[in-house]
Amino acid sequence: MTILVTGGAGFIGSNFVLDWFKTSDEPVVNLDALTYAGNLENLASLKDDARHIFVKGDICDRALVDQLLATHRPRAIVHFAAESHVDRSIHGPGAFMRTNVEGTFTLLEAARGYWGALEGDAKAAFRFHHVSTDEVYGSLKPQDPPFAETNAYEPNSPYSASKAASDHLVRAWHHTYGLPVVTTNCSNNYGPYHFPEKLIPLMIVNALAGKPLPVYGDGQQIRDWLYVTDHCSGIRAVLAGGTLGETYNIGGWNEKANIDIVKTVCALLDELRPDPAGPYARLITYVKDRPGHDRRYAIDARKIERDLGWRPAETFETGIRKTVQWYLANEDWASRVLSGAYREWVSKQYGA
Ligand code: NAD
Ligand code: TYD
Repeated sequence: MTILVTGGAGFIGSNFVLDWFKTSDEPVVNLDALTYAGNLENLASLKDDARHIFVKGDICDRALVDQLLATHRPRAIVHFAAESHVDRSIHGPGAFMRTNVEGTFTLLEAARGYWGALEGDAKAAFRFHHVSTDEVYGSLKPQDPPFAETNAYEPNSPYSASKAASDHLVRAWHHTYGLPVVTTNCSNNYGPYHFPEKLIPLMIVNALAGKPLPVYGDGQQIRDWLYVTDHCSGIRAVLAGGTLGETYNIGGWNEKANIDIVKTVCALLDELRPDPAGPYARLITYVKDRPGHDRRYAIDARKIERDLGWRPAETFETGIRKTVQWYLANEDWASRVLSGAYREWVSKQYGA
């Protein structure tokens, strides 16, 4: 048996692939276009591992997807590939519509053709697992209950709108064609191999470089944070036991204001790598807010807990400590990621 993973060289996808082989010898075909966010170095430990078959390619390339399905006969597709950064979606939404909407459409059509020709047990066992985000539900007010699977979709950014569109396509392919799909909507992940354009890794690499720590607006926006390997275990649980056509919210019950996240990162760095120039929090700099910035996300994860017995293994305290320690132990990884293309992005987003 084999699974096809898309976007497996990105942050969550590479953690998923590495984690997969800790508990399974089932081969993974990993289709990834290696955009700026894809990094094969994350998978260096699998270089000579026959269980991992890496294919550089685009999920919008129907002929390639058809060929991979016909050649490898996967029992499941786990679909991570996406443009994933809200700020980039504000500057250039086109790539988000292409990969997140057209790419998901292409995969669904290829999967429909492949699954339609399967028979018996292989047909019954096939799964299309769509990996999505809590951002499709929009923004919560302070007293609102956390997002349940029944919440209305109210996406506010080009990123979340493109993910919402892809969720709707997945839903429709199940209802119209019977394609055996499951969807997971997860909160903000953090952990190893997180590209340093997102809040937590950006704060770590900037602090270590003595650069300002840019906090948008008043820093009181709230996100729910989940350690990345807990997201991976949630996906495995839903892939194995999720009900077809259902969606599952995955979250860590860790609502935190951005400024508190940044202060936590600073305090851990003060402890683990003290800076002779003074506490890292001196670098905190409030900058212009993100346009349309969602104020609060929070996840009600009771469905996956109740139906599938999933629980996160990490608390925020253990997860953030592991994350800071990983970045301190892997400064070479971060400096290689900080390529010319990435530096261009930083000057576009934050100015000189
Ligand atoms: P990422 O940006 O780190 O990685 C995306 C990967 O997809 C990269 O390896 C990239 O090369 C690849 N890719 C992009 N366009 C492609 C294309 N057209 N064809 C093939 N590959 C392509 O993203 P991530 O943070 O790992 O997120 C993975 C998935 O999880 C996304 O679908 C995202 O919406 C979802 N998600 C992310 C979070 C989070 O906090 N990061 C939370 C919930 C859900
Ligand atoms: P991000 O990591 O981009 O994830 P998302 O927007 O998908 O939740 O941002 C997390 C939060 O941190 C979000 O409220 C925006 C904020 N933020 C900053 O304050 N400064 C920054 O430099 C970045 C990248 C994000």
